[in-house]
Amino acid sequence: WVSAADGRIHGWDWQVSDDNGFAELMSRSGWVDINAIEAQGQANGHVSKTRVKIVTASEERNEFFFPGFIDTHIHAPQYPNAGLFGSSTLLDWLETYTFPVESRFGSPPDPKTGHQTQTDPKETPLLAQQIYNQVISRTLSNGTTCASYYATNHVPATNALSSLCNARGQRAFIGRACMDNPDFCVDYYRDFSADDSIHATRQTIEFIQTLDPEGKLVKPIVTPRFAPSCTRPALQSLGELAASYSPPLHIQTHISENIKELALVKELFPEADSYAAVYDKYNLLTPRTILAHAVHLSADERALIRVREAKISHCPASNSALGSGICPVRTLLDEGITVGLGTDVSGGYSPSILEAARQACLASRLLGQSAAWQRDHSQGVDGDGADGREKLSVQESLYLATRGGAAVVDMGSELGGFDMGMLWDVQLIRLGGVKLVEKSPLDGVPGDGSANLVQAGPVGNVDLFGTESWEEKIQKWVWSGDDRNVKAVWVGGRLVHSRI
Ligand code: GUN
Ligand code: FE
Repeated sequence: WVSAADGRIHGWDWQVSDDNGFAELMSRSGWVDINAIEAQGQANGHVSKTRVKIVTASEERNEFFFPGFIDTHIHAPQYPNAGLFGSSTLLDWLETYTFPVESRFGSPPDPKTGHQTQTDPKETPLLAQQIYNQVISRTLSNGTTCASYYATNHVPATNALSSLCNARGQRAFIGRACMDNPDFCVDYYRDFSADDSIHATRQTIEFIQTLDPEGKLVKPIVTPRFAPSCTRPALQSLGELAASYSPPLHIQTHISENIKELALVKELFPEADSYAAVYDKYNLLTPRTILAHAVHLSADERALIRVREAKISHCPASNSALGSGICPVRTLLDEGITVGLGTDVSGGYSPSILEAARQACLASRLLGQSAAWQRDHSQGVDGDGADGREKLSVQESLYLATRGGAAVVDMGSELGGFDMGMLWDVQLIRLGGVKLVEKSPLDGVPGDGSANLVQAGPVGNVDLFGTESWEEKIQKWVWSGDDRNVKAVWVGGRLVHSRI
């Protein structure tokens, strides 16, 4: 049962003590421990040691509880651009698509003083309210119970995102994106000094800590957008700012996403040995740091990240869409680095972590094929990638989406599974089967009569034929599921989304 007082799992005897509707659901429930699935996990790293348990609500009806998804990297203000990227790559994508949309979430700085003109939350543009509400709706309906959000550099809009997550019950880290480097940032959308950047960041931290003093649901996260967007003094101050809190604040940024970006970092920070070394110099690599992408890291950089215990957000949909490259997830896991999944909306086109899990599998298969080909080729045999251990299994990608993400946001003992004492951040998944019902013929539609059969209800794409094992059902869910399969979502025991 889940206590209404703390929203945590206290036992499995179905004495459910709240009235959010899951009393009834859970009273019909039983455990399905998918040990078989775990046993198939790769026997290395920490993946195989951790289990994701699945609880059935009703086996006949093909419903099951699953830990809520954790999106370790998403840009809320970019949501209007989801699916819009043409054939751009990172740096021209930022200029063409991203900075224009983000700049609309507040007024530009005063051209004389350079200071933000808007500080009153009541001045939050309607656009920000609308878009942020929509992002929360979309992520919740896709089963995301916890998200690490980048906002813009506007204080009122960033605070509005925090208030909305808090009000609607989504667990969230909220970061005001810091961008004060005039050599990279555009004048219509940037901070005009490191001091401004830090001052505005402090304002958002204080707002969030007043909103949710214990950080039960919403927490601030220090967010240097990425090295090229920040001056050295800003990076220095942000590192100090995060460390000045007890416990230290979370930090998020981007690293080693795109080849041209690497060259730019080299040019802007010639004194640094590597991209990771830039962040390390300013104490931005900490156990509570989330580094997005990490596609092109060197072995030395991975070793540094491992030693600092910084975490990585793997964003496969974005990496493919922007042509950034394929993140070597297996290598990261083998080396003991903690990895979770991110949608990276709108570098990523979808707000769904299930889609990210699917894309993680696909990207790893392509990497597996090319790695195996190279291995075999060097030995004079033709490889087809069959032995490519780079491939992530469905189980592993689900691990990254839940337990992995929980560890990335440093909440591994509280989120991501059904362990005793964990928070009830859970989605109820139902799998369909197309239900066909008779309908009177449509006027004027010729044919053999089969057009009389129409699909009934929003059952989704996952067809079941009654022969599937639980393991197979889960595989079908990952490859063909979507938000229509998410029947209900709870965060800390509170029902935050449901659909008929
Ligand atoms: N690097 C700096 N900013 C961004 C961003 O908004 N998205 C992605 N994918 N990479 C970035
Ligand atoms: Fe990003």
